[in-house]
Amino acid sequence: MKILIIGSGGREYAIGRALKQDENVEKIWFAPGNGATDELGENLDITDFDALADFAEANGVDLTIVGPEAPLVEGIVNVFKARGLTIFGPTAKAAQLEGSKIFMKNFLARHNVPTARYIETDSLEDAYSFINSLEAPIVVKADGLCGGKGVIIAQSHDEAKKAAGEMLSGNAFGEAGTKIVVEEFLDGYELSVFAICDGKDYVVLPAAQDHKRLLNNDEGPNTGGMGAYAPTPLVNEDIYRKLDERVIKPTLKGMEEEGMPFTGVLFIGVMVVKGEPIILEYNVRFGDPECEELMPLLKSPASELFYKAATGDLKNAKIEFHDKYAVGVVMASKDYPYKSSPPAEIIIDEIHHEDVRENTHIAFAGVSRGEDGKLYATGGRVLVCVGLGESIKEARDRAYMLVGQVHFAGKQCRTDIAYQAL
Ligand SMILES: Nc1ncnc2c1ncn2[C@@H]1O[C@H](COP(=O)(O)OP(=O)(O)O)[C@@H](O)[C@H]1O
Ligand SMILES: [Mg+2]
Repeated sequence: MKILIIGSGGREYAIGRALKQDENVEKIWFAPGNGATDELGENLDITDFDALADFAEANGVDLTIVGPEAPLVEGIVNVFKARGLTIFGPTAKAAQLEGSKIFMKNFLARHNVPTARYIETDSLEDAYSFINSLEAPIVVKADGLCGGKGVIIAQSHDEAKKAAGEMLSGNAFGEAGTKIVVEEFLDGYELSVFAICDGKDYVVLPAAQDHKRLLNNDEGPNTGGMGAYAPTPLVNEDIYRKLDERVIKPTLKGMEEEGMPFTGVLFIGVMVVKGEPIILEYNVRFGDPECEELMPLLKSPASELFYKAATGDLKNAKIEFHDKYAVGVVMASKDYPYKSSPPAEIIIDEIHHEDVRENTHIAFAGVSRGEDGKLYATGGRVLVCVGLGESIKEARDRAYMLVGQVHFAGKQCRTDIAYQAL
């Protein structure tokens, strides 16, 4: 099988790495890829959807997998499907589950999927009166895509009103914020649950937990994610069952009934409040860094999972996972997440301990290949050190042993990934 992967992060590297180990896969392209994906396949300098479809047609690409949300929301799947090309991901309409928080919240409400009490509005007056009816903290969300920065957890009514005002005026997030969601604050613990969907059927992946804050103990600013692990013991059979019955099934059924069957990764942001899973949001693609831990846990061939999902054939797939744990630690550049850092050469020491060598690997993200052929840290989140093990502790210890072997000027990482599970 020949596969094209859209994206350039650690997530796409991880998908490529899983496919590279799959004997059914003969060739992988990345568009645009990063400085290390060229070791797994070939990088393409193409971004235009029609040009990508031209490439897929001309080169006999059997399957295209879309990593990030932006091309999905912009309709890359529609362009490929219109030309009869097989692609894994939701159509633009279905991708509104992530592209518009208002669409998502109203969808959840229509289908009785549990979510925080909310209003959607473009009126400051309505926002104020709903804010007044809630107790602080109060959550204010811009409707559109804001690269993970569009949510304010306000600690007071005044702060919530100020956030609502800045968003609605267009000053905070431009067009993406001229409609907002105001909702009640949910107090609990957060999980990422992923279902691979083919429009009707689905496969639930082991639940993961991400670490959004920059610093240990969940302090410091929010980031794209500083590390994750899976499966998390914070999900028991009861929660999986509730997610299945109350969330995933009604969502897929609802999307189908409303004429936009969902194909791709349904990423369910869950807050567990007193044992009940409440939905914070949907995303329509893998989380990054969760994907970097989930891909190595996949025992079945990755091509089978993605191809059968893309072609509506998941009911004929038997997808299995390793009975193991994975922990991923993000190594970020010096000034992340505040500003970009100067390029820094990455040096990776040889790992002598066989046990560590065989149970760890790196998923590369913000890296570029220099003219000298060396790898440089050039992005915010540079790479993810992944450890596998029979327990979370073993996987965590291995991941951190690998972290100790990776050097670049200004590197920073959390030292407590998976602490909630240990
Ligand atoms: N209602 C809520 N109660 C408590 N925390 C929330 C709530 N909504 C969002 N959050 C927090 O804010 C983060 C970002 O919100 P989310 O809805 O996932 O938006 P996005 O990922 O698009 O920024 C969540 O991961 C969660 O930690
Ligand atoms: Mg989120």
